[in-house]
Amino acid sequence: MKNNKIKNLKQKIKNKKANIGIVGLGYVGLPLALIFAKNGFNVTGIDIDEGRIRRIKKGTSYITDITGAELKRAVKSKKFKATKDTVCIKQLDAIIICVPTPLDRNRRPDISYIRDVAEKVKENMTAGQIIILESTTYPGTTREVLLPIFESTGLKEGEDFYLAFSPERIDPGNKIYTTENTPKIIGGISGASTELAQLLYEQVIKKVVPVSSAGAAEMVKLLENTFRIVNIALVNEIAMLSNKLNLDIWEIIDAAGTKPYGYMPFYPGPGCGGHCIPVDPLYLSWKAKQHGFKTKFINLAAYVNESMPKYIVHRLEDILSGQKKPLKNSKLLIIGIAYKKDVRDLRESPALKIIKVLKKHGAQVSYHDPFFQYLKVKGIDLVCAPLTKKVLTSRDCVVILTDHSGLDYGSIIENSKLILDTRGVLRRFKGKKSKMSKGKIFN
Ligand SMILES: NC(=O)c1ccc[n+]([C@@H]2O[C@H](COP(=O)([O-])OP(=O)(O)OC[C@H]3O[C@@H](n4cnc5c(N)ncnc54)[C@H](O)[C@@H]3O)[C@@H](O)[C@H]2O)c1
Repeated sequence: MKNNKIKNLKQKIKNKKANIGIVGLGYVGLPLALIFAKNGFNVTGIDIDEGRIRRIKKGTSYITDITGAELKRAVKSKKFKATKDTVCIKQLDAIIICVPTPLDRNRRPDISYIRDVAEKVKENMTAGQIIILESTTYPGTTREVLLPIFESTGLKEGEDFYLAFSPERIDPGNKIYTTENTPKIIGGISGASTELAQLLYEQVIKKVVPVSSAGAAEMVKLLENTFRIVNIALVNEIAMLSNKLNLDIWEIIDAAGTKPYGYMPFYPGPGCGGHCIPVDPLYLSWKAKQHGFKTKFINLAAYVNESMPKYIVHRLEDILSGQKKPLKNSKLLIIGIAYKKDVRDLRESPALKIIKVLKKHGAQVSYHDPFFQYLKVKGIDLVCAPLTKKVLTSRDCVVILTDHSGLDYGSIIENSKLILDTRGVLRRFKGKKSKMSKGKIFN
């Protein structure tokens, strides 16, 4: 009986007859749904956001990396449909959960979205299904939270249903590494679940890497993100020190990057945005605390990175005071408000914090970002200013917070009075632009 269930599911997966359900159609879930659909699977996307469901039906994308045409093609092929109705879970063979995992107001893990979905799955689950969690979370979530919910139905993991964790490693805006060509880690609660999850992802992803348990797979993702938060904090600290020593951090990073081994470049910036760096490592430090363990690296790195927006405001004050201008009433143009280049994503963006502090200090702030025609969040209400000569020449200082591609950096250099370049994007103009006079551009 047990063998029959695995055999049936394996057969369905191999024949692409398995019905796939993706719960949560955001940055992670929507691309994944389209990949399964493109590879011939019938995919049902489930989301509570009716606006998103409507947009999918109309074929208008809300995710930077997905075009409207791709979405239309998938819907037209009838391989992909979206709904908010969770009863369809009964008809699915594989259910992949990609819902948010934010922090609560006390900066502790908020896994309520995962729990809510788990309850819906529990109400509708049938024997022979595999359920995979992709949301980034602390080690133990799959075994300690999901397993008891599903087993309370009387069904047994590894025999009646299968449960695994597989972290999503998507890097929005990355044109080289996409979901399909980024190796996928998987770890099941049971060996049977690992085997099935591996088989499923192998149908659509080039390389699948099984690990010994769901907990190990959960920890892999947090090691990756912790590695980044710590190295970004390190380079932010070196950047602040370099400024004190009158050294150019970008020259130093580029030169260090010529070492062919033992070094990997990370870049300073105005602070960390998105989800992976500012939020995910705090899931790990929370879990560590439950075990009486203090994650000193994570705590220190978070502290350094969170102090960057304030540091940028201080730099700006210094730069303006060099021109005998106070921050109060100064006219500033912020370039780039997204948390990183080439994405339409404001989550945890340091630009928001910086704009708020600048306004509090009485500065006159405007912004330019091709991804946002207006900015109406957290007490900020601004309209995107055009990047014209008139705008640039009328500002006391231009502050580059996000280095979007395709902006006319030549014109920014030529027409701005002062520039604070927090991303080092102007260094590639070095020596080429005569107008790049000393004392005008600051890091
Ligand atoms: N965005 C990234 O770059 C990235 C990268 C790797 C991992 N992750 C992780 O993947 C997970 C999802 O992130 P995301 O960026 O796709 O989030 P997102 O906010 O873009 O999308 C999540 C979607 O889930 C939906 N949702 C919420 N509750 C639901 C419910 N009960 N039922 C159905 N749908 C529901 C929301 O409406 C939303 O459309 C998070 O754990 C995140 O940490 C994100």
